[in-house]
Amino acid sequence: MAKRSPIQTAVFPVAGRGTRFLPATKASPKEMLPVVDKPLIQYAVEEALAAGARRLVFITGAAKRAIEDHFDSDQELEQLLEKQGKSDLLRQLHSVLPSYATCIYIRQPAPLGLGHAVLCARPAVGDEPFYVHLADDLIDAREPVLSQMAAVYAGHRASVIGCQVVPRSETGKYGIVATRGRGDTRRIHAIVEKPRPSAAPSTLAVVGRYLLTPAIFEHLERIGRGAGGEIQLTDGIARLLGEEAVYAHRFEGKRYDCGSKLGYLQATVDYALAHPELGGEFRAHLRRVVARGRAGGQGRPRKR
Ligand code: UTP
Repeated sequence: MAKRSPIQTAVFPVAGRGTRFLPATKASPKEMLPVVDKPLIQYAVEEALAAGARRLVFITGAAKRAIEDHFDSDQELEQLLEKQGKSDLLRQLHSVLPSYATCIYIRQPAPLGLGHAVLCARPAVGDEPFYVHLADDLIDAREPVLSQMAAVYAGHRASVIGCQVVPRSETGKYGIVATRGRGDTRRIHAIVEKPRPSAAPSTLAVVGRYLLTPAIFEHLERIGRGAGGEIQLTDGIARLLGEEAVYAHRFEGKRYDCGSKLGYLQATVDYALAHPELGGEFRAHLRRVVARGRAGGQGRPRKR
């Protein structure tokens, strides 16, 4: 039998309002935006399952019902596909959520910040280390990023934060860490939320993957509202640093910020090019678009 992973729970905070993607996210969650043929939240769940998680905790808010529906079985649709002999589609539908995984939905009463969303997961997580996965950070990696972080945890038995170097001009969009040591895994000695480029202690930015010890909850309980009037996960981690080691791990992989329109479009193009069924025809289409552009023709649809 496969060895039980020490990290059994993955938390998916999906209660944000996704204002950068309005109007698409007015009535439907940004986590349901599809990249080619799967919604972002499906990629997220697949990564967590690959990293050994079996309990999937979704922190939901207003207009997020579609996420629950996506992971529920749909008897009517299954019967229809069966009747039509569409066994491939039926198989794909069954693989949305394997039977060994359990979904738990917790409502965040108001969008009080990522730190507050993580705190809402406390009753479901209990006293064990857990993953936090932000679905709008889509990362294409040979080894799933959470698995890379679980390997770091196995060596250090401490919290691990997924990090990436960003241009200095962009530090104001991220939590930024100051570290000691060398290599891809380094101990963090300070973390600051969205510093100005001139005030940033480094250009190593926190992106949407965390492996946290349950000690974080006590800190999240105690911190008040921080930047933007929200309860910030970064502030909780800053407190945690005072009591336990926390590591930054520069993961291997390409990240797409699918919470922004441009990042989402880049992900769509790259994933479509890599798609086993669509890649060839899509590449040919892109070549035609580029050739039209070079010839000074229209590369745009008539209407926007
Ligand atoms: P973002 O900073 O991306 O905010 O949240 P957002 O509201 O989702 O999107 P924009 O910036 O308005 O476009 C980071 C993550 O934290 C979750 C979000 O769902 C997202 O996954 N979050 C944020 C919550 O679950 N609750 C909150 O109160 C805030």
